[in-house]
Amino acid sequence: MKDSDEGDQMQGGGAPEGACPAGPPSFSTATGTKIGKTLAVMSGKGGVGKSAVATLIAAELHRRGSKVGVLDADITGPSIPRGLGITGRITVGPDGVIPAESSGGLKVMSMNLVLPSEDDAVIWRGPLVSGAVKQFYEECAWGELDYLVIDLPPGTSDVPLTIMQSIPLDGIILVTSPQQLAGVIVAKARKMAASLNAPVLGLVENMSFVTCPSCGEKVTPFAESHGEEIAVAMDIPFLGRLPLDPEISRLADAGKLEEYRSEAVAEVLDNVLGEDTPVRRAPVKERKEK
Ligand SMILES: Nc1ncnc2c1ncn2[C@@H]1O[C@H](COP(=O)(O)OP(=O)(O)O)[C@@H](O)[C@H]1O
Ligand SMILES: [Mg+2]
Repeated sequence: MKDSDEGDQMQGGGAPEGACPAGPPSFSTATGTKIGKTLAVMSGKGGVGKSAVATLIAAELHRRGSKVGVLDADITGPSIPRGLGITGRITVGPDGVIPAESSGGLKVMSMNLVLPSEDDAVIWRGPLVSGAVKQFYEECAWGELDYLVIDLPPGTSDVPLTIMQSIPLDGIILVTSPQQLAGVIVAKARKMAASLNAPVLGLVENMSFVTCPSCGEKVTPFAESHGEEIAVAMDIPFLGRLPLDPEISRLADAGKLEEYRSEAVAEVLDNVLGEDTPVRRAPVKERKEK
């Protein structure tokens, strides 16, 4: 399938009508790139903190000793570099485009690093967007990574669908927030993931509660949390709740989100890497010995 043929035919979940009978294209990686596990972070809607969760998970993996890359596949709303304080432009080396690196050591590729100015708007339609993600995946000299975390575009439209069909994913993490737990949205995302046979690792409920700074009581500023119930109803694991924490937005605005540490994030990652999930740590060293 040519890139220009993708996308517009694909609306919502399920197999796209009129798709190439050969199936989705299969993306490969640049010379010298070895990626252990690829995790995609997905949400039914924007604004639920998908990019923040992707960054926090990547940072926590890195803190535990893994080599981690973050592919910002949200081409029209890229926000990963800003949260990590990356402002430089990417360069090109002998094996491809060299991803930027955060001060903590996360490798990052994002549309923001390609655009002349961070504020420039990308108003491309689906096929071009999918093409850009393909290039980020295939033409980046990621080197050896234990994990590549992909921040998927929000929603269940053609772009995340095409990406999920083309990149070998080891697991998908669904992110939602209480006010958007209209179930239907999560269920739609879940259905799309299931239709592609990509394993859904579970659901994270972001902005779930606020801890009162004076008395420590947990209050729920939005609707009551139903994340666990919804995960059970969809028969996927509940990975945990992350608080609505002013420190997260403060650090994100300051470009230091990778410095955020919390037990809640650690617990979510413990669940992602749990005993029987497909994404347990697979250091590059071990894979080479195989
Ligand atoms: N748990 C949280 N606590 C506080 N602020 C958050 C939290 N999660 C996300 N944010 C902030 O909310 C805004 C939207 O989050 P973002 O990750 O960009 O959402 P999405 O990628 O789903 O559109 C950002 O300013 C981000 O820093
Ligand atoms: Mg985002």
